[in-house]
Amino acid sequence: MDNSKIKRYTVTAALPYTNGPVHIGHLAGVYIPADIYARYLRSNKRDVKFICGSDENGVPITLKAKREGITPQEVVDKYHKIIGDSFKEFGVSFDIYHRTSSLTHHQTAADFFETLYNKGVFTEEVTEQYYDPTAKQFLADRYITGTCPKCGNENAYGDQCENCGSTLNATDLINPKSTLSGDKPILKETKNWFLPLDKYEDRLRTYIESHKEWRPNVYGQCQSWLSAGLQPRAMTRDLDWGVRVPLRDAEGKVLYVWFDAPIGYISATKELCNYAKLDVWNPKAEEYYISSYENDKCGWEEYWKSDETKLVHFIGKDNIVFHCIIFPAMLMAHGGYTLADNVPANEFLNLEGQKISTSKNWAVWLNEYLREFEGKQDVLRYVLTATAPETKDNDFTWKDFQARNNNELVAILGNFVNRVVVLTHKYFGGAVPTCMEITEVDQAVIDELAGYPAKISASIENYRFREALSEVMNVARLGNKYLAETEPWKLIKTDEDRVRTILHIALQIAANIQILIEPFMPFTAEKLMKMLKNGGHDWNDAGTVNLLKRGHDIGEAVLLFDKIEDAEIDFQIEKLNQSKASNAANNVVAIPAKENIQFDDFSAIDIRVATIVAAEKVEKTKKLLRLTVNTGIDERTVVSGIAEYYKPEDIVGKQVSMIVNLAPREIKGILSQGMILMAENAEGKLTFVAPAEKFQEGSIIR
Ligand code: MF3
Ligand code: ZN
Repeated sequence: MDNSKIKRYTVTAALPYTNGPVHIGHLAGVYIPADIYARYLRSNKRDVKFICGSDENGVPITLKAKREGITPQEVVDKYHKIIGDSFKEFGVSFDIYHRTSSLTHHQTAADFFETLYNKGVFTEEVTEQYYDPTAKQFLADRYITGTCPKCGNENAYGDQCENCGSTLNATDLINPKSTLSGDKPILKETKNWFLPLDKYEDRLRTYIESHKEWRPNVYGQCQSWLSAGLQPRAMTRDLDWGVRVPLRDAEGKVLYVWFDAPIGYISATKELCNYAKLDVWNPKAEEYYISSYENDKCGWEEYWKSDETKLVHFIGKDNIVFHCIIFPAMLMAHGGYTLADNVPANEFLNLEGQKISTSKNWAVWLNEYLREFEGKQDVLRYVLTATAPETKDNDFTWKDFQARNNNELVAILGNFVNRVVVLTHKYFGGAVPTCMEITEVDQAVIDELAGYPAKISASIENYRFREALSEVMNVARLGNKYLAETEPWKLIKTDEDRVRTILHIALQIAANIQILIEPFMPFTAEKLMKMLKNGGHDWNDAGTVNLLKRGHDIGEAVLLFDKIEDAEIDFQIEKLNQSKASNAANNVVAIPAKENIQFDDFSAIDIRVATIVAAEKVEKTKKLLRLTVNTGIDERTVVSGIAEYYKPEDIVGKQVSMIVNLAPREIKGILSQGMILMAENAEGKLTFVAPAEKFQEGSIIR
């Protein structure tokens, strides 16, 4: 977009699903880069609305509610709060954090649908869907389980088998079962409204191809969707949670979550613009409801319907098709809306070499991080930006986190600022000294400094946040190099005026860092502002060396960062290892039950409590022990294959469960008269099944 044309910016960050807390992957992929961009624009005095909110509709939320035995509304209320708090605590500076369960959103999304309907955009299609006659409900794919046709896993879902990873259709499943009633679902006809994406293909192609500047991963994904050919897609679903389809013959139907969610950006903007006209306070929802839009203070439409508005969507790569194909098609169909100028989608962030997974608890949760690294929001913001998965998947490791904190934040940035502030207090009582005579060395530093803001701006405006941050760090490196070269601590005895000039310039560098680092590390910028007592400057002042006037009193030195010790990192790694161990234990798939037997079959087996009275190894075997047991009825010999797990001397006196009426068998020349019951786990390890307390030999087990 032609820069001179831009009057305002609408910056959106993907609305997170409200069925769990957010982790570092979310922050790195979407919210930190979006926040950097929005803060940068504000520092440049641009008109910007930074929009986000909770995505509260969709099947995963109803499933979560079922699993926890609460209502979907309770689920979203809980996580809307947790997620919103995490964002606030990490300094993500949304102008509004809205939610799609709100009235404003329901109205906006329903209106949007109605407009498309009235324009005749949708096609109606009757398809056969699984239906649960007992629960009287159509079943979303996730509500159906059955046997995977590919691998035989009996617990595959209607959309996917988690055992072999295949993508499935619900109708592919063998023996489908409804998770609502456990019954076999039936196929029933249902009508839904489809957006004929194929009809927008040409316009979408023109749109995408006018944005060759988009990141290659985004552009490439769009191209491959387009070249595969677009299909009509259902924009309504048979579900009872979400935005009601505003049509008479649409009982029990809601808008497809990917239809309503992006409209959530629009409804949030409306809500934001009407903040001045909030007249109904609903204390229970802790939220304002709006009765009308008459008093549209900032003009939400300007942020969505003007070609002088630059719209940018920050998302993760799994959201590309929705933001670059489906949502633009919706906006085209509606008419009057501006399309996104860029969609800087990130790839994924892995954790210690593995995919982040909520269900496996393989994640760093923001709320836990804040508890364990109090006040270190900026350290995480820094590390996640420095390792952001902008062009390819990237890995977060705790060792790297520690190294970046200790070797970069502490050693470069913190160290520079600290030295300047401490020396200013030591030599000049904390007042900015006067700049005396400028030498060649000084001039070189001043010139280099002057070049940074434009360089960093260019990186940010091209969505290269890693690069931008490393340039900010280079300003601190420049400061350190300057001090190391000029050595004011040596000169102070011989040439105080020279020291005045050096510290004057060094302080200006620190004040520049304060401005330049603010989009990335707002908490650090705030600390710097207090330390230097340097308020009121913005991006346009950066690059100059007269931010702090001579004689201006600065504050006391405070440490911006402190070292992170090995023990803290070991603790985090240990925590992840525990997740790994418990996952391994949970992942064992139990062997399916055998065929049913009758009670008589069971009672034919005579099982008794017995005590081992003697034990010895069976010669020339690895696994066998010859046991003498007291069964209460008699004393007899049993050969048992437990030698790998028990030493003879350790089991004498042990009580066991024993089948006493098993026909005797000869094993290695010994007559074995019965069988001792053992439990065997997936690794083949054996353990005795014994009565929970010492019990009379011969007691019947049944
Ligand atoms: N909830 C989706 C996710 O977490 C993102 C929705 S983005 C929006 O993947 F555009 F739909 F809002
Ligand atoms: Zn399978």
